Amino acid sequence: MTEPLYRAEALTRRYRNGRTEVLALDAVDLSLDAGQRLGIVGESGSGKSTLVRLLAGLDRPTSGRVWFEGTEITGLPERRLGFLRAAVQMVFQDPRSSLNPRMNVGDIITEPLRSRLVRRQLPGGIDHARRLAEVLEAVDLPADSGTRYPHEFSGGQRQRIAIARALAPKPEVLIADEPVSALDVSVRAQVLNLLTDLVAAQGLTLIVVSHDLMVVRHLCDRLAVMRQGRIVEQGDTASVYGDPQTDYTKALLAAVPKIRIEG
Ligand SMILES: Nc1ncnc2c1ncn2[C@@H]1O[C@H](COP(=O)(O)OP(=O)(O)OP(=O)(O)O)[C@@H](O)[C@H]1O
Ligand SMILES: [Mg+2]
Repeated sequence: MTEPLYRAEALTRRYRNGRTEVLALDAVDLSLDAGQRLGIVGESGSGKSTLVRLLAGLDRPTSGRVWFEGTEITGLPERRLGFLRAAVQMVFQDPRSSLNPRMNVGDIITEPLRSRLVRRQLPGGIDHARRLAEVLEAVDLPADSGTRYPHEFSGGQRQRIAIARALAPKPEVLIADEPVSALDVSVRAQVLNLLTDLVAAQGLTLIVVSHDLMVVRHLCDRLAVMRQGRIVEQGDTASVYGDPQTDYTKALLAAVPKIRIEG
């Protein structure tokens, strides 16, 4: 049996909010193979972002373990996480807050390549100017975008910049947390189609968190449904859609997309 790309065992994350404690993630087990496209859905506060942050190594579990390509990442010090930092890249919900407004687009996109930890993982290095040109083309942005600043771009274009930055170090895994929910409805489909094409063309493993079930249906071949810090149902997308096993999943699937006011 070959090792899955990701394996998580009994992942638990508690947060302390003042005097109360929140169990954000409650003993989640997960296994993901290279090339799979996993969608994570569930009501607000169910632990979706907490789970993907742990997988990306951006946060540490209270207990439980995560392996990436057979190496346990839980408990590794930052200086030994270079392989993960190079291989796993994230795209966040709102490109207005995830892109530094004072950096030009070229510097933003090549920033991951300048990280010492990441650089050590790229044998022979990557020519920054060349890589910038390649990823700008991959996300369909004008070739001269590098000298411009985020505010000169529309919301959809800014999310393309965030995607280009994620692609720059040639990752194996792309994790997108609500990648289109901050965007104008009119550009969502374009950005989703772009993600679909990129994942296929570059053979990426994809993990997508979304409130919008159409988004995961479009992008993902596997689905995990979360509630109160647990995965309550998972399987391939078609079977979960076609034959949901829990009332909770049925309700999620039946829910008319609601407009959310992001705080
Ligand atoms: N940094 C934090 N400090 C304290 N509590 C947190 C923190 N991050 C998350 N939580 C709490 O953990 C629980 C799970 O949060 P999480 O952000 O993972 O949910 P989510 O499924 O991503 O929700 P949403 O769909 O609204 O983004 C929530 O109760 C949340 O309030
Ligand atoms: Mg979230």
